[in-house]
Amino acid sequence: MRIKILPTAERVGAFAARQIHDGVTSGRIRVLGVATGSSPEPVYSALAARGLPRPETLTAFALDEYVGLPASHPQSYRSVIDREVTRPLGLDPSRVHIPDGTAADLELACTQYEGEIAAAGGIDLQLLGIGVDGHLGFNEPTSSLASRTRIKTLTRRTREDNARFFSSLDEVPLHCLTQGLGTILDAREALLVATGETKAPAVAAMVEGPLSAICPASVLQLHPKATVLLDPAAASALRQLDYYEMVEAHLPGWQR
Ligand code: GLP
Repeated sequence: MRIKILPTAERVGAFAARQIHDGVTSGRIRVLGVATGSSPEPVYSALAARGLPRPETLTAFALDEYVGLPASHPQSYRSVIDREVTRPLGLDPSRVHIPDGTAADLELACTQYEGEIAAAGGIDLQLLGIGVDGHLGFNEPTSSLASRTRIKTLTRRTREDNARFFSSLDEVPLHCLTQGLGTILDAREALLVATGETKAPAVAAMVEGPLSAICPASVLQLHPKATVLLDPAAASALRQLDYYEMVEAHLPGWQR
């Protein structure tokens, strides 16, 4: 893993946005894996401000979706991705894929999702956040490191973390569909962004801890091309600072 520590959360967003923009411009990224959560928001806003070349030709795959929320619900990941990614970046909605959490046959929907990723030629770059318990997508601790897209039960901790987007904890769905850790490993490139002190223990476990299903994000230790972008708060529990890159660079045109 390449670990880069940037001075602020805004620069983390700008750096990731530039990496995605460069990949799309060069043609290296034609299929983009997108993530929800607060951490990637600065990435999307920097990309939207700059504009992507020929965004309508880009295909996108979301990491996960709640089970049972209608697509029209403002907190369904279909709505969130539409609001934060598809519309601001000018993507073609018919090329933006989200697991179908309302399907009558959820297992079939998961198998079909894997098929859609394969039919698109695989994911070129998967953007990721990390949960405070080290989850990737909705792969909670003890998820198989080889898992594929499937139904998962959300932990109470994750439901409490995500309750801020709903009017009460009871409204947060109990289940989700998520790309598996094996699916995420198949992306040609992985780009994880983490900011803020609450993420520091999970980041340290992912980077310096053992490869273990108890910290699902540690699976990125197996990825041939994974980059982790951190602000100083998210990096604050790391101990092996000699191995990480401090990136001071100002990014003209990418920051306010
Ligand atoms: C949710 C998403 C994850 C995301 C995590 C952290 O659980 N399914 O993909 O990484 O939240 O979100 P945040 O960046 O808001 O802390």
